[in-house]
Amino acid sequence: MAFIIKDKKLIIEEIRYLSLNSRFNELKKYTQHGNTSVYEHCVNVACLSLWICEKTGIKVNKYSLVKGALLHDYFLYDWHVPDKTHMLHGFTHPKVAFKNASQVFKLNDREKDIITKHMFPLTPVPPHFKESWIVTISDKICSVMEILHLKYRLL
Ligand SMILES: [Fe+2]
Ligand SMILES: [Fe+2]
Repeated sequence: MAFIIKDKKLIIEEIRYLSLNSRFNELKKYTQHGNTSVYEHCVNVACLSLWICEKTGIKVNKYSLVKGALLHDYFLYDWHVPDKTHMLHGFTHPKVAFKNASQVFKLNDREKDIITKHMFPLTPVPPHFKESWIVTISDKICSVMEILHLKYRLL
């Protein structure tokens, strides 16, 4: 199946904005799953989230959807390095990502919800907005693809 994203420009512009105004490019040096960097993973999740909205016609705030998706794993460390602060990574990194992102950007309620709830159901509080549900689902799909080394490219 071809992943044709009509509003690809929105993602490209947001990546450019985040890269110029934060440590977003640093995510390239951290591995997320398999041979996928955290940067690639976040871009994949943003692309799949937007593609789902375009394909299904679900009305969302696409700016917040893309921004939240790109920043959802903005935790800025290598979680594979053994360290006692990384032991509970799965549970704690959404809050770390939100703290890091909110130090640089003013995030609205949707963007905060996307970042802090994306690990549901591992973290118990469910997403509140449609945008957060879509990113949460896309994150799981992209993670499985990356863990299984299934080659895909969304951007
Ligand atoms: Fe995550
Ligand atoms: Fe993720």
